[in-house]
Amino acid sequence: MKKMIDLIAEELAEAFEKAGYDRSYAKVTLSNRPDLCEYQCNGAMAGAKAYHKAPIMIANDVVENLKGSKCLSEVNAVNPGFINLKLDKEYVADYLNQMGSDEKLGLEEVEEPKMIVIDYGGPNVAKPLHVGHLRSAIIGESVKRIARKMGHKVLGDIHLGDWGYQMGLIITELKERQPELPYFDDAFEGDYPKEAPFTIGELEEIYPTASGKAKEDDAYREEALHATYLLQNGHKGYTAIWNHIMNVSVSDLKKNYANLNVGFDLWKGESDAQAYIPDMIERLKKEGHAHIDEGALVIDVKEETDTKEIPPCMIQKSDGASLYGTTDLATMVQREADYKPDKIIYVVDKRQELHFVQVFRAAKKTGILPQETDLKFLGFGTMNGKDGKPFKTREGGVMRLEDLIAEIAEEMYKKIAENRTVAEEEARETAKIVGLSAIKYGDLSNQASKDYVFDVDRFTSFEGNTGPYILYTIVRIKSILNKYQAEGKSVEGLRLSGAHNESEKALMLEVLKYNEVMENAYEELAPHKICAYIYDLANAFNRFYHETKILAEEDEAKQKSYIALLMLTKQVLESCIDVLGFEAPERM
Ligand code: ARG
Repeated sequence: MKKMIDLIAEELAEAFEKAGYDRSYAKVTLSNRPDLCEYQCNGAMAGAKAYHKAPIMIANDVVENLKGSKCLSEVNAVNPGFINLKLDKEYVADYLNQMGSDEKLGLEEVEEPKMIVIDYGGPNVAKPLHVGHLRSAIIGESVKRIARKMGHKVLGDIHLGDWGYQMGLIITELKERQPELPYFDDAFEGDYPKEAPFTIGELEEIYPTASGKAKEDDAYREEALHATYLLQNGHKGYTAIWNHIMNVSVSDLKKNYANLNVGFDLWKGESDAQAYIPDMIERLKKEGHAHIDEGALVIDVKEETDTKEIPPCMIQKSDGASLYGTTDLATMVQREADYKPDKIIYVVDKRQELHFVQVFRAAKKTGILPQETDLKFLGFGTMNGKDGKPFKTREGGVMRLEDLIAEIAEEMYKKIAENRTVAEEEARETAKIVGLSAIKYGDLSNQASKDYVFDVDRFTSFEGNTGPYILYTIVRIKSILNKYQAEGKSVEGLRLSGAHNESEKALMLEVLKYNEVMENAYEELAPHKICAYIYDLANAFNRFYHETKILAEEDEAKQKSYIALLMLTKQVLESCIDVLGFEAPERM
């Protein structure tokens, strides 16, 4: 379906033309004086200079030509030259009825779906999943769902950090503790054990211990670096340990991401890029894209228009080891070979921006990716505690994601239990669902690039701009619909009629923005726009609810129209929270 704002703009364009002015002035926006009108056009002001006329004269001419408009019931020219617009009630009802009978709720899917890879999550294997990785997972998941809703072909790739120094650290520490293991015996010829020599719990202790030791002890550090190098070059025993680390960690990660309602299509990692590295480096050298600088192999990426220094992209250290940029470039080689993406979106901490500037330029300059591949860096800010510093546990340690989720669910449970009418088990289950909405909405309602304060009290509140408030609104609608049906009335095939009061009209005007909001959120990769929208929508609904007798309405036709509006409001809210990555319980 066409967006309402475009339908209005079309009528205005006609009117401008008929009055003898250029169509391009017929830009329509939402009103910034909702007390006066619903939409407005400021084109008369923009045209005044070109036509050497007072804006109000142009506005009057246009208004004259809008008489008989099908979508507008009220048009006024106001000094100095605004054109104020109100939509026709019946036209709005008609539009909403069309939305309601469309599976996509009026959303127009793109004509040419793009192949999009979204690189998000990016946890580092063997390190506990902490809140630092929360934002990437939440934002990436939402962007993926929005792109899919728009009809694109999307692959979400977790891009595990599974090939770096942390692996060498773990191997080194394991060797210290259990030197007798066959992985460390170069003469060993048999099959390595199937069972990992550690549990996830042990692994999570081994890594920080090793990392601490390496910082103090140069020899230990050297050994860990060497172990990393050997692993990356196919050392048999170390590869076997690496496989254990991967098995143990990945099943733990899968559990954690499932709890977050985050799902990846591809569980690839930096290690999968390894197979592409030697050929890539060979070619870059041969074609003269890369050169040796102070022992390291680098690609120059600076451009004349740069206002700050962009250092070369390093792809091989003097000892032959590969780097973060190497795996990212080789991963592009793999993605191009396997999926030919039109677009790759990286959802990563904004402090890594320079790295991506280097890698993107290197990829284009060397032909690793075609010029037209659209590369987007969606950098996000830091999640801070109330003290304005990066979020920590009460004791000041790094907060594990699992603990955070459990803590919020507990908080929600207490609130739900306060006026609880449901069984313990359901209350626990509901607390989890609502808790997840608190975390995700709390994050997504902020523009991604900004830092934000993770405020448990605010995020878990049922009032204000929060996930629980949105869910509460949906649950309220569900409850009215259930009661309506319990009276033996059917919700099938109901149609809306023109609004009967002002708050109903206001709600209708919010509902019909759905397609425009979703499209815009995709174009700008901005889930926060969906949050802002559903907050307005929930507010409009609640105002309507407080001002209107719905179940007690005696006029049956009117009641049916209300119920149809409720159903549509619910569908729109549900579709929006679905792309935000959470869902609503039956009751709460
Ligand atoms: N593992 C990285 C980190 O924790 C994030 C990976 C981001 N994605 C990428 N293609 N570099 O910092």
